[in-house]
Parts: sequence; structure tokens; C-alpha cells
Amino acid sequence: MDYKKLIAADLVAVIGESLTEEEIYQFLEVPKTSSHGDYAFPVFSLAKVYRKAPNMIAEELVEKLSKEHYENIVPTGGYINFFLNKKEVSEHVLETIVKEKEHYGDANIGSGNIPIDLSSPNIAKPMSMGHLRSTVIGNSLAELAAKVGYTPIRINHLGDWGTQFGKLIVAFKKWGDEEAVKKEPIAELLKLYVQFHDEAEEHPELEDQGREWFKKLEDNDPEAVRLWKWFREESLKEFNKVYDMLGITFDSENGEAFYNDKMDHVIEVLEEKDLLVSDKGADIVNLEKYDLNPALIRKSDGATLYITRDLAAAEYRINTYDFVEVLYVVGNEQAGHFKQLKAVLKEMGYDWADNIKHIPFGLITANGKKLSTRKGNVILLEEVLHEAIAATKKGIEEKNPGLENKDEVAHQVGVGAVIFHDLKNDRMNMFDFNLNDIIQFEGETGPYVQYTRSRCESILSKADWSVEDFKPGSLNDVDSWEVVKALDNFPNKVVEAYQKYEPSVMAKYLIDLAQKFNKYYSKHKILADDVEKEARLSLVYSVSVVIKEGLRLLGIQSPDMM
Ligand code: ARG
Repeated sequence: MDYKKLIAADLVAVIGESLTEEEIYQFLEVPKTSSHGDYAFPVFSLAKVYRKAPNMIAEELVEKLSKEHYENIVPTGGYINFFLNKKEVSEHVLETIVKEKEHYGDANIGSGNIPIDLSSPNIAKPMSMGHLRSTVIGNSLAELAAKVGYTPIRINHLGDWGTQFGKLIVAFKKWGDEEAVKKEPIAELLKLYVQFHDEAEEHPELEDQGREWFKKLEDNDPEAVRLWKWFREESLKEFNKVYDMLGITFDSENGEAFYNDKMDHVIEVLEEKDLLVSDKGADIVNLEKYDLNPALIRKSDGATLYITRDLAAAEYRINTYDFVEVLYVVGNEQAGHFKQLKAVLKEMGYDWADNIKHIPFGLITANGKKLSTRKGNVILLEEVLHEAIAATKKGIEEKNPGLENKDEVAHQVGVGAVIFHDLKNDRMNMFDFNLNDIIQFEGETGPYVQYTRSRCESILSKADWSVEDFKPGSLNDVDSWEVVKALDNFPNKVVEAYQKYEPSVMAKYLIDLAQKFNKYYSKHKILADDVEKEARLSLVYSVSVVIKEGLRLLGIQSPDMM
């Protein structure tokens, strides 16, 4: 229940017309210390209308306010502090969660399709930590979108087209070895790509050959197509290993190449609207009025570009999915590209261009250094995941050697640690990656949150309590009160995380909930036989349900034991 709404409604009844209920709602604050109540209303916002000192206004209003739902309402200086009724609220919150279980927090803020363009690594190159960010942020946004009522469509817009494939074909024909590629596709193809760039510095004619072979590929030359297909398949096999580990599936793997035969329409519309301008033989669209550089649509040799394929993809997506909005979860370094994409679509006369949303994120560095493919200075995602799993397994061997299905748990915790670390940072923040920090069971980590939940599960099984045993009861102490309030806040956080396109809202919430629960746990005997035992156990159960559901929204699993 939204207690803030309740307070706003009570306040508007005594304040009258000078503020709307909505405005009061916005003004309500959560005090820094709980001795100042659960919510506080800053009275200075009324001083103008009442022409009195805020503390006097506060006192008068408190006199008039209905006290029905509160333990106390106290005027304190310029504030009115509201203390909610702990018994009433805790009983209500626990009953709701027990009833709704994993559906607690389901919302209906909208409906319709939301394609989410995520992951989208480039064929023949390693999937980097940057692609990991896109994959896990995009996947979490998809879960959140579904939770609040939309239908997400996960699209892996593979980078499987472009001039680099011409270069790769040249390199493979000159120096490549089929067996070596089969054995270690990405590493081998990357090596060839790097070699091409090294050699091209001394032999610039290689660049021309690369361009020729890309042209052949675009013209459906059988040899070029065969090699390209093969590179694509081998690369996908590698990517799928990572997706399997992360437990992520896609609704579509239509990459850039899929749009090859769909760009003519884009060109037609651009020509029809007289938007294409010839510039040294190439075709561009001027975007001066948007304060953007011109968009290069077609090169002088007729070759199309990344943006041309994205224009065709956008048309395809509106026609196929009739989307409410479409999210592109792509690094901030492509902000310019997405501004251009939107602007060109606008120029083409598409109103829905406003619903194209770039969801940018910051770079990941390793030991303070930027990661780049060209130099071969990449952290390989698959290796990172394997290392995280292995390190977690070692930790389990030390702490809990008797644990059943150790491998499964190590997988869930190791992979969860990597995902959680990525998602707990505001997406625009840059962050450094240090494996050892993220797999700790203490601190603000995924394993800490998972461990807190497994603690809940172990208490419940010790008590031999199952949810069918639930009897309504209420709690009335300050530590459980913090937990109850956090639980009550879960539905708001779900909506906030989606509306801000910010899974970190959920990750931070889970850390806070886990910390509050652990504080409660350290001070109270949950299994003591007294009147509140039932209520305490349903609190433990509720924490378990909410953590599991919250982690699921981040794409992370919750082992019952660890
Ligand atoms: N393949 C691109 C890259 O790795 C990302 C593609 C993003 N999606 C898009 N529709 N442009 O940089």
C-alpha cells in the first residue's frame, strides 16, 4: 500500500486548496533518522499562503489532522512528522506478500511491445565486457518491462555486416587456416583481423582488396558469402556459450545482415523526400537543424553503412512489432549515432522516431585501462565467468564443504556476482573490474544478497515453516519496522527502476533490504516461542520472496542453500 498517498490524502483534507494532493505527495520526504518518523511534510511550502511561521502552521495542522492510521503525528519546527502504525502496516505488508508471492510488485503502468536491442556483439570479434554490460542491462530491463505490464522483445542485433568482413576475407585467404579457425574461432579470426591492420600499414593496397571483397559480399559472390556465413556460425557458437552461462535467450537474432534487402525502401523514402545530398560521390543527409553532423548513408562505391542498416531495422521494428518504444542498450560512445538515427527518422516523417530510446552506459575499465579490441587488450567474457565460478567454488569448499550440488550453486553465485557487480552501478558510471572484490560474501555484492536469502530459507526450514502455515500477525519493534518498510517499498522500486531504465535502482534496493534484514536477524531470536514468532517467520519468508524476485529482475538466480 502506498502510505505516502494516504498521508497526502489526509493532508489535503486539512490544507484546503492551496496545494493539490499530487503536490503534497511530491513534497513528502523520508526523514534521515527514524526518530523523525516515517514521512515528513515540510511546512515552509505553505508559509506563503498562511502568512504565518512554519512551526505555528505545523501545530495548527496537526491539531486538525485525522490520527486514525498513525501511531503519532508530531510538529517539529518546520515539519510535520508522521509515524505510521507499525502493527497495522506490518500485518498488511506481510499478508500481501504471502498472498501474492512472486507476483508481489506486479504492475500495470502500460502495455504493448517494447523491443530491446541488447548485447549485439560483432561477428569474428570477442564479446567484451562492454557487450556484457549491454547484455545484462538489456536483459534486466526486459524483465522489469514485463513486470510492469509491457511485452519485451529481446533482439540481438548482431554486428554481422560491414567493410570489416571484406578485410577478414582477404586476411583469411592470405594467412588463414581452416582448422585453426574451427578450433578457436574468435581468437583466430581476431588474430587475422589484427594482422590485417598491421600489414595494411605498410601495404595500403590491402585496404583496396578489403573493399573489393566486401563489395563482392554485397553482390552475393558465392565464395565471399560462404566464408562470411562460416565466420558468422563459428562466432555465434562462441557467443552462445556465454549466453548459456548467463541464462539469457533472445527472441530475435536478426543482425545487421538481415537488413541488406530492406535498405532500398529507406533510400526510396529519403529520395522521395529530397533528403539525400550528394557529397563527393557519397550520399548524406544534412542534420544541421539538429545541430548534428551529416549522416553518411551510402559511400561513393555504393556500400551502405551501420546507420543505413539501423534505419532499415527501425522501419522493420515498427512494422513488425508496432512498438510502444524501442530501447537500444548501447555504450555511451554511440550517443552521436543514435541522435543521428532519430533525426533522420524524424526527417523521413516518422512520428514514432520520438519513441526510439538510446539507453547508454559507461565504460568498464580493467585495472584502470580502457579496453579495446584492436590492440588485443580485451577481457574475455567467457574467461571472466569461468574464473568467477571457479573462485566461488573454492570459497564454498572452504566454508560449506558438505553442500549438495556445489557446482550448480557455484555457477549461480559466480555468474550472479558478475551480473550484480555490473548492475549495482548507475549505468552511466564507469567502473573498474576486479574479480576478487565482486565474489565476496560480504560487502555490496551479489553473493551477499544471495547469501542473505539462503539464510532466510535455512531459518524457515529449521522452523519447519511453510507458507501454508501463515497466520496474520503483526510486529512492533524498530528493527523489523525497517525491514517492513523496505518490503513495502519494493513495488515502487520496480516501477522506478523501469521508468529510469536503471536496474541499479533494484540492485541498490536489494543491498539495503539485505542489510536491514541482517541487522534485524542479529538482534532478534526469530525462533523464540512467543506471540510474535509467526509474524517473525512470515517476515523472513517475505524477505526471501522479495530478494528472489528482485534478483530475478536482474537476471540472477537464487540458490536456497549456499
Ligand atoms: N554491434 C555494435 C557494437 O558492438 C552494437 C549494435 C547496437 N545496436 C544497434 N542497433 N546499432 O558496437
